[in-house]
Amino acid sequence: MKIAPGYNPSDVNTIRAIYPGTFDPLTNGHLDLIARGSKIFDHLVVAILNNSEKKPLFPVEERVEMISEATREFGNISVSTFDGLLVEFARQQQAQALLRGIRAISDYEYEFQMALMNRRLAPQLETVFMMPAEKYSYVSSRLIREVFDLGGSVEGLVPASVVERMQARAGKSRTV
Ligand code: PNS
Repeated sequence: MKIAPGYNPSDVNTIRAIYPGTFDPLTNGHLDLIARGSKIFDHLVVAILNNSEKKPLFPVEERVEMISEATREFGNISVSTFDGLLVEFARQQQAQALLRGIRAISDYEYEFQMALMNRRLAPQLETVFMMPAEKYSYVSSRLIREVFDLGGSVEGLVPASVVERMQARAGKSRTV
């Protein structure tokens, strides 16, 4: 490739974005959003909130493993955990953007509040909203946990490796 005179690679504007969440567990809706984010950002950091107050289904270390496995193919995704303010983590990561998914209008109010609060805290950080595929518009980690707990099938809504880990955690062999 011919490089233009005066070209300095450090001048190239690379966009690093953070995709924050709880991911307990990772769903195919999350993965769909990660795939979309990986196409428009140079690097995407999937950031798992390390919230020790809640009683999670999966410890944060296992969530890191699950997401790392499921996103290996993309090449420009890393997985990290964070405590405290998201904007502070974004600053440490030198990220320019936050990525959040909006599945339906019902998500909008909460997302709008968070985006504006984050903007107040860090005006230079932009929140970018993307929509996952319609087929995942009703999928949430909370519903996945509930349906699985009550013996329903979550096949096709979370990666197969997540189903396996949920089954292992449930301590019994059952069909999804
Ligand atoms: O997957 P979730 O539960 O919708 O993710 C929510 C998350 C982790 C993005 C949000 O709770 C968060 O950013 N927490 C970190 C603490 C913080 O910065 N709070 C102020 C947000 S305006």
